[in-house]
Amino acid sequence: MSEASAADILTLYVPRDSAALAVGADDVAAAIASAAQRAGRPFRLVRNGSRGMHWLEPLVEVATPAGRVGYGGVTAEDVPSLMAAILGGTSHMLDVGLVEEIPFLARQQRLTFRRCGITDPLSIEDYCTHGGYQGLARSLEIGAADTIEQVLRSGLRGRGGAGFPTGIKWRGAAMAKADQRYVVCNADEGDSGTFADRMVMEGDPFCLIEGMTIAGLAIDATIGMVYIRSEYPHAIEMLQAAIDTAYRERLLGEDIVGADGVGTGRRFDLEIRVGAGAYVCGEETSLLESIEGKRGQVRAKPPLPVHEGLWGKPTVINNLVTLASVPVILSEGAEAYRDFGMGRSRGTMPIQLAGNLKFTGLFETAFGITLGELVDDVGGGTASGREVRAVQCGGPLGAYFPRALFDTPFDYEAFAGRDGLIGHGGIVVFDDSVDMLKQARFAMEFCAIESCSKCTPCRIGSTRGVETLDKVARGENVAANLVLVHDLCETMKYGSLCALGGFAPYPVQSAMNHFPEDFAPAPLRVAAE
Ligand SMILES: Cc1cc2nc3c(=O)[nH]c(=O)nc-3n(C[C@H](O)[C@H](O)[C@H](O)COP(=O)(O)O)c2cc1C
Ligand code: SF4
Repeated sequence: MSEASAADILTLYVPRDSAALAVGADDVAAAIASAAQRAGRPFRLVRNGSRGMHWLEPLVEVATPAGRVGYGGVTAEDVPSLMAAILGGTSHMLDVGLVEEIPFLARQQRLTFRRCGITDPLSIEDYCTHGGYQGLARSLEIGAADTIEQVLRSGLRGRGGAGFPTGIKWRGAAMAKADQRYVVCNADEGDSGTFADRMVMEGDPFCLIEGMTIAGLAIDATIGMVYIRSEYPHAIEMLQAAIDTAYRERLLGEDIVGADGVGTGRRFDLEIRVGAGAYVCGEETSLLESIEGKRGQVRAKPPLPVHEGLWGKPTVINNLVTLASVPVILSEGAEAYRDFGMGRSRGTMPIQLAGNLKFTGLFETAFGITLGELVDDVGGGTASGREVRAVQCGGPLGAYFPRALFDTPFDYEAFAGRDGLIGHGGIVVFDDSVDMLKQARFAMEFCAIESCSKCTPCRIGSTRGVETLDKVARGENVAANLVLVHDLCETMKYGSLCALGGFAPYPVQSAMNHFPEDFAPAPLRVAAE
């Protein structure tokens, strides 16, 4: 074959993200490669990350002078006709047009996920061409104290759930006296309907590596660890491959290079620790116990991990999205980041739309969008075509919101003001076939199964909660048992050592408050049905 000019080379993209792999992306990629070979057309097949539009996976993209054109829901069987259309310049029924113009993507404000789905996740050249390592370069230029100041001024708050200001956490660890500090990335991602952490690891892993390196140098930590659940094998593989490349390029290790390619004399090592998948191991102190090789049980606080964390040393633990948001804050500046958002919720949030929705996936936008806009406009209403009845926000410990609260803006304080939480940004939608009594029971059962057993309100309370809700379901002493459930919830809320027992009451009580008809005595429920 004669050497082809760049314009002759056909560039195709097939995601290697788990969401695409689950629906046959590997078979599609193999079929495309052999079809292009048979056609004798020089081609480049990029295994990109996901754009986050799950209903279109596997989304095959083709580079054209006008931009990347997409084909949605491609199967291996579609490939012969698809390749004929691509090579012949004709239309195809799976054509979804220019990908960047699909409304779900076009209306996002992507900062943290700006490269995801666009670049080859394992190509360091691609990463740098698309703005990668500019944040680290800036951080090295301004030094540790100003880096922390930038993170503080950006208004970045933890994306793992608690929403604690990241800059304050970093400053606390930097100021703690110690011969060793650690940065730990929490990639346990146990919340129902969430996948943002995984998407970064599979779609833009250098972004996490850069963010952790910035954190490490800012707090003077030489060791970083990424704690990933074992249910994420592809993410582990991709991140490990990216870490290996970063070591080869001297972007990790004993003498990290700066933008000029010259050694800075600064050290930062990074390794992956794989957890067994207990929900409570996402809680920062049990995560530390797990890394230390112990049973994942919650530690009493104080001491805070920033003072006494991993092996008793000052440790910054941040959620993966928090850390992956740092490079863009440094490269674009704190003010540019904090210009997005509302109130004390600054910047953008990768909201993960899941459950019974027409358009599910990752939607990164500035804080302030309402829940109704997310569910009805962005998500397109239910996939089943039935009425939306309830939306659980913030994972299994998050409250259920009825339509009456759809005017709630996506904002830490606004959600808290309505007894809810935004957590890690997961939204799970249910249609009118949902039974909220069963959902309430599920919350208690989940807490009972996942409880680390350290404190009584959670360990015993959750089991009693299941039993009492079962009595309600059987129509036994309904009014009295609902009072008991309420009392139990209050005890768990205020008496639990951590947020597992402390927040499990939120889905239960929100279900009881907003959907009382589902908790009516059994004969009434039968009559209503
Ligand atoms: C039961 C429980 C599970 C948690 N799971 C996660 C998790 O999967 N990922 C995460 O980042 N934070 C999780 N958290 C929150 C962490 O304890 C901690 O607040 C967070 O990692 C801090 O990072 P951030 O400040 O960047 O949010 C969990 C908390 C609790 C109580
Ligand atoms: S609330 Fe539950 S998970 Fe948290 S410390 Fe107590 S028993 Fe453990």
